[in-house]
Amino acid sequence: MKSMRLSVLGLLLAFISANGQTPKPYTTPHAPLLGTAWYPEQWPESQWESDLQLMQDAHMNVVRVGEFAWSSLESSEGHYDLDWMERAIALAAKHHIAVVIGTPTDAPPAWLTTKYPETLGMNADGHFREHGGRRQFNYASPRYRQLCASIVAQLARRFGHSPDVIGWQIGNEYTDESFDPATRALFQQFLRDKYKTLANLNKQWSTAYWSQTYTAWSQIPMENTGGNPGLLLDHKHFVTQTWRGFQRNQIDILRPLILPTQFITTNIGGLAWSDNWDHCAITADLDFASWDDYVGQGHLDTPKNAMLNDFVRGWKRQNFWVMETQPGSVNWAPINNALSPGETRALAWQTIGHGPDAVLYWQWRDALNGQEQYHGAIVGPDGKPLPIYAEIAQLGQDLELTREALAGTSPHAEIAILHDYDSRWAIDFQPHSKDYDQQQILLRFYTPLQKLMQPSGEAIDIVDPAAAPLDGYKLLVAPSLNVISVELAAKLVAYVRQGGHLLLGPRSGMKDEFNSLNTQRQPGPLAEALGGRVEQYYALDAPVSLAARNSTGTATIWAEHLSTSAPDTQVNLRYADPGGWLDGKPAMITRNVGKGSIAYLGTLPDGAFLSTILSNAMRDARAEVPGPALPAGVELCLRATGWGKSSHRVFILINHNESTKEITLGGPFKSLLPGIVLTATHAAADTPATQISLPPQGIAVLVSEPAQ
Ligand code: GLA
Repeated sequence: MKSMRLSVLGLLLAFISANGQTPKPYTTPHAPLLGTAWYPEQWPESQWESDLQLMQDAHMNVVRVGEFAWSSLESSEGHYDLDWMERAIALAAKHHIAVVIGTPTDAPPAWLTTKYPETLGMNADGHFREHGGRRQFNYASPRYRQLCASIVAQLARRFGHSPDVIGWQIGNEYTDESFDPATRALFQQFLRDKYKTLANLNKQWSTAYWSQTYTAWSQIPMENTGGNPGLLLDHKHFVTQTWRGFQRNQIDILRPLILPTQFITTNIGGLAWSDNWDHCAITADLDFASWDDYVGQGHLDTPKNAMLNDFVRGWKRQNFWVMETQPGSVNWAPINNALSPGETRALAWQTIGHGPDAVLYWQWRDALNGQEQYHGAIVGPDGKPLPIYAEIAQLGQDLELTREALAGTSPHAEIAILHDYDSRWAIDFQPHSKDYDQQQILLRFYTPLQKLMQPSGEAIDIVDPAAAPLDGYKLLVAPSLNVISVELAAKLVAYVRQGGHLLLGPRSGMKDEFNSLNTQRQPGPLAEALGGRVEQYYALDAPVSLAARNSTGTATIWAEHLSTSAPDTQVNLRYADPGGWLDGKPAMITRNVGKGSIAYLGTLPDGAFLSTILSNAMRDARAEVPGPALPAGVELCLRATGWGKSSHRVFILINHNESTKEITLGGPFKSLLPGIVLTATHAAADTPATQISLPPQGIAVLVSEPAQ
């Protein structure tokens, strides 16, 4: 294995910004890396060497240290002890293991919150949080930020030029906001900056409703549930801005003190799906996004894990890190079962197929006491390997054999699903049906799309339509784009006019950027281009039938009665609902606009029916992928250095089944992993193909074999 010390040159080449211009997207040298969270402060120093030796033996090359270690780094105000960390980093380097330092700001020490009680956050119920857990701090407190800046500066001065430190993680899983009076005053100031006058705020929030009219900024409450939808949306924007400021406070300390080669990221929790704040906005200030990918109870849900990793990749539209994943089991699910033998490795490989440049386990060894004694770990309290160690070591061996091929590769997509936080929030404030679970709805669209792409292994992107450049996509699918501003509508219409194809799902365009109803009805500022609109929406308490020209299906949860207003808008689908409001009414309409098209699907069809709709949309958008379907439960992921013919391509094939599967892929391939049986065959005359026999939870990493 190459020493991580050698990687510093690679890092420099990969990252340095030319003439102070915007840095290029960060690329992790020697990716994908494998590692773990390691808390040396919780163990006698005499045991560190054997920990690190075991990590090295498992082919790990990165550890994260320091997060939560504030009381060990600063035992009382201004009394720092960073020597132990320096010794731990040096010892890791001896084992060719690079270090990511986590700033310890998610767990302030008891002396701090005792001396500065204003640094404690207040829950929505009006109670201040207390010491004894973590995340008890107030993210908006200027005093807390000042104290964070001091400890981060100490760390940055000591380790910012260490060749053994490759990057920084700020805090840990930004989670809780604060409802204390000082933060409420900041919220009111935020509103003042945004709306300038109370008259403007009153207008955009329609405060004549229920006599909500404000005559002083200080009257405005701070709520995260049940309030005026305009206020609730602004509160989410405020929370996003406040966390961003919390993070910016540390970035501004770190940047001038650390090598330009050291990256800055944070590990995002909430299983990537939490919506406390806008992940695109928070990750905009980081070199790359990281997230904590846990299964929890049960087993690997492959479409969901694929979707969530694609979702994370979309925040910055680049590769990312999995900063934490589970070594077998967690401790926070209703039942903390272990993943089956082979499943932990399959989870890691599936994840790598969707774009991370590092996978780190949480954690190496459980602290002897503390709240997480039962969490999965890699070694036991005795420091000796647990059964999962061998499987993780096998993954380490896999990565040794494939790292060179995977270097510089990432997933690529011609189809994107549109997701944005304003729409997510606007619907979740008023779901109108308890069944309108947006993750499930995203999955309902993602699953068939991903399956239809499987013959090629190409990815599906999930991007924010306002932030992402859209012209590279042949097809955009927007399952629930509830908030559409005039600006976003203009961007989408321009995309379509230039040849793009846009399929809108139910609830699209109901609201504007203030979370007010659009007066054009749905899809708001897109109604004119669509040549149609929603006449009425219905939350469904029973399925309703759908009838297209050659097929029938059912729809659940939500149904919208559509109408056309332009002669060239086609009706593709109708409801069959004898005696009901929806009977015979259009359920999907499409119009060609410029060189492309806009379609509106007003309901949530069953999986097979939706798959047909999406497959037709792919055909119309020329985004179809020819080739035989893979066996159920087998997944193909393509990582490449680009789209061009000369691009270097690596295929990751995973058998998520409990039985061996035979898979045929077009073209001659060579396996980078041992023990995988490949048989040269022909898909058709003169078309070489390869048959691959994959055992249960088996992995093949394949590269094209040059023609003989
Ligand atoms: C989160 C945290 C970790 C740990 C794990 C347990 O991801 O970041 O500190 O608590 O959960 O699963």
